[in-house]
Amino acid sequence: MSDGGTSRASVFEHGEARKTAEGLAYLSGFGNEHSSEAVPGTLPEGRNSPQRAPLGLYAEQLSGSAFTEPRPHNRRSWLYRIRPSAAHPAFTRAVDNGGLRTGPFTDITPDPNRLRWNPLPEPPPGTDFLAGLWTLGGNGDATQRTGMAVHLYHADTSMERVFSDADGELLIVPERGGLLLHTEFGLLHVEPGHVALIPRGVRFRVELLDASARGYVCENYGAPFRLPDLGPIGANGLANVRDFRAPVAAYEDIEGPVQVVNKFCGNLWTATYDHSPLDVVAWHGTHVPYIYDLRRFNVIGTISYDHPDPSIFTVLTSPSDTPGLAGVDFVVFAPRWLVGENTFRPPYFHRNVMSEYMGLIEGAYDAKAEGFVPGGGSLHNMMSAHGPDRETFDRASAAELRPQKVDDGLAFMFETRWPVMLTPQAATAEHLQQGYDDVWRGLERHFRPLP
Ligand SMILES: [Fe+2]
Repeated sequence: MSDGGTSRASVFEHGEARKTAEGLAYLSGFGNEHSSEAVPGTLPEGRNSPQRAPLGLYAEQLSGSAFTEPRPHNRRSWLYRIRPSAAHPAFTRAVDNGGLRTGPFTDITPDPNRLRWNPLPEPPPGTDFLAGLWTLGGNGDATQRTGMAVHLYHADTSMERVFSDADGELLIVPERGGLLLHTEFGLLHVEPGHVALIPRGVRFRVELLDASARGYVCENYGAPFRLPDLGPIGANGLANVRDFRAPVAAYEDIEGPVQVVNKFCGNLWTATYDHSPLDVVAWHGTHVPYIYDLRRFNVIGTISYDHPDPSIFTVLTSPSDTPGLAGVDFVVFAPRWLVGENTFRPPYFHRNVMSEYMGLIEGAYDAKAEGFVPGGGSLHNMMSAHGPDRETFDRASAAELRPQKVDDGLAFMFETRWPVMLTPQAATAEHLQQGYDDVWRGLERHFRPLP
């Protein structure tokens, strides 16, 4: 995939793909009206749908929001492509859903217990990103465009097929292995520590840059992720707008059978096209895939005492109809200084009306001394009591409060307004830890009433 290129990188040519990935150019900014053309002169000037699009291309609009949504949240792009997306045979159910599940999640009686999982086991040989998706749980209803799903993925093979998700956008959080994402809009490169977002309906395939890949995916059925408002923080801070990067146009000009898989209302459907649908030569618009380096996050915290609620670490938010109440927030616990005076510095004990799925990209998390490992995850559903384990509590309660750099880990959270209902495979998984409650054992009484 290149400017006018006709060849596909082989799944065995990691070196070549990595060289491509590291040489990529990007467009900067979040929510911009970006534009890009892989061949000069292919982007129409002054109109979206000329009588004849340049160089015999077809013009096509891709809507990520209703036509009439308010301008700041309206998402659509115009694509100039070799064939229109409409040119395809019928989709059939001739593909298995594998480990992929979709809301509503009603198979398991909701469980108030705190749960924690080890990483997924190694995938069976020949597993690509799509086959390697494994749903832990979720909430809402994809057909109502509310809620979200928590997936994990593991893969050892690059995708030859092309995938798109009509049910929601996909926030990909790699934990192991670099990925080269071939999208309709161009190429994106992510490594652990970066995230990628594939908007609803955008076609893509995932090429592995290393022998294997593993990570997390938030499938957001609701309103597209946007940047949180900053309020008194001001015009800068948290995830800065210019650090989001969109691809430049690049296309595949392939005549020949290409399997395309479409996730629609919870099921995978497939059709074999006689060409690659990644054939967009030029585009402009706001409904675009993007990447973000989590280490660019401008972490804001206390410079006096206590610490702000973890909403201060929100990278992206999918709002609901209720102001301030997110369908799902994506939150990162990035390296930062702790300087609070007379303050218990790790995350406090709490019970939350929101539900929290946490994952770990690397290192350790400052509220858990052990058991929470990269590639694993924990689930604290609404009102379940959680906080530091006993060892962390003891250490933090006794620590000398000098300025302290927390820089040995990168954790994140998908925080949602509804409880995360488990899939049967998550509830019975061998990698579900037993005895997670024990991390809070030994938090003994220290209360000594005055005589
Ligand atoms: Fe929490």
